[in-house]
Amino acid sequence: MSHSTRPCPPALTCTIIHVTTTRTRTGHAERHEARLLWAGNRGLYALLQAARHTGPIARVPRLGWVVTDPVLARQVLNDHAAFGMAGEGGVGHLWSQLFGDEMAAFFGGARHAELRTGARDLFTEASARTLVERSQGAHYRALAAHLKAGETIDVADATRVLAGRLVSDVLGLPNRTDDDAYRQVFASGERLAALAMGTTASTELADDVIQQARTIVEGITANVPDAYLTAGPDTILGRCREMGLGLPLARGLATLLVIAGTETGASGTSRTVALLHDTGQQHDLLADPALMENAVREGLRVSTPAPVIGRHVARDTTVGGRSLRAGERVLLLTYLADNGVGPFDVHREYVPETRQLWFGGGRHLCLGAAVARTQITRMLETLLVTGPYRIPSRRPARGVLVPTYASLRVAAA
Ligand code: HEM
Repeated sequence: MSHSTRPCPPALTCTIIHVTTTRTRTGHAERHEARLLWAGNRGLYALLQAARHTGPIARVPRLGWVVTDPVLARQVLNDHAAFGMAGEGGVGHLWSQLFGDEMAAFFGGARHAELRTGARDLFTEASARTLVERSQGAHYRALAAHLKAGETIDVADATRVLAGRLVSDVLGLPNRTDDDAYRQVFASGERLAALAMGTTASTELADDVIQQARTIVEGITANVPDAYLTAGPDTILGRCREMGLGLPLARGLATLLVIAGTETGASGTSRTVALLHDTGQQHDLLADPALMENAVREGLRVSTPAPVIGRHVARDTTVGGRSLRAGERVLLLTYLADNGVGPFDVHREYVPETRQLWFGGGRHLCLGAAVARTQITRMLETLLVTGPYRIPSRRPARGVLVPTYASLRVAAA
């Protein structure tokens, strides 16, 4: 496997140099990733380290069942009768404590299926391209112009602004001209998500945490009542109105979208940019642009921005030969399940075992998958427009649910 495009001296020397360089660069990339996890979320880092050797499914005291195998993880995600979101251990349990039982019922009920079907056309590959161009296109062009002028840009900051622009647009919230307003949207989502960091052992929130969360939600949804009345039919809030979901549920869904679509997208984008650089494989992509799809898929696989998915065991069942009892909880460690096949490699073809586990699976499979892929593609195309890029400096984010870069400064090489 070669990742260099440079011409080589005699064949054997060339192979040795390539293998050594590739290993060194892979190690370099892995160290940066490990540092991100450690700095961002110590609890997550410790959980992933401890679970590396537990086998495909194991019972861990205080946590419940831990699954590290991609096929078993998908089995859990696809079995909606045995595994739910609403009870202890599922993310729906967190939402119900903030927005009431209607929101909890939504996750597992007919309205969920109805809304997904009703909003599907907003999230197709074609709609994703239109949405990303409309909400983010000008920003990518500005970034490319800065790079061409020899300037250094902060990709991590850009991903936060871009994520804020995207979710505000798809929701139907009013357009703002200043980037700070979108940084604010992102920061609110990040603060709200960080409150969930203490929920690995239990999704029951303390009263003071619920109060803090409600204050943040007030800010995130301040413009939702107006937008619910006026947003166009090609937006989520417009669709909520047309379907008669009511304002309280619309507020909950708007918050869900801000949480689901900002940190994950920003993390997946900046980490893919870093991985491509750290492994040296940006040169492979420059030499063969047809590798773009692989590069984006590999970036998502290796970074797995939603590294843990929780579910409540709704009825007795068997997974991987182990008996799970109703009332228990399951943590799917998608980060380990996805990374089991090996390091970032733009030459790696689609892996049938993982499929797209980084986007979940079953009826809650990420609605924004096409949007996320399109964003990452646009960012890589933007950075590579001037040829290879370098990363003069970087800084991991601290105390966040989703590990990412606080700053990732990029310049043309
Ligand atoms: C790299 C970026 C992203 C990753 C890795 C990601 C990952 C995920 C995962 C794993 C789930 C399933 C959670 C579960 O089953 O408990 C999910 C759900 C969801 N995602 Fe994403 N996501 C990303 C970006 C986005 C974006 C950009 C949007 C919106 C524009 C979005 C919207 C949603 C929504 C609405 C759901 C809930 C779907 C449902 O419950 O039916 N995501 N995402």
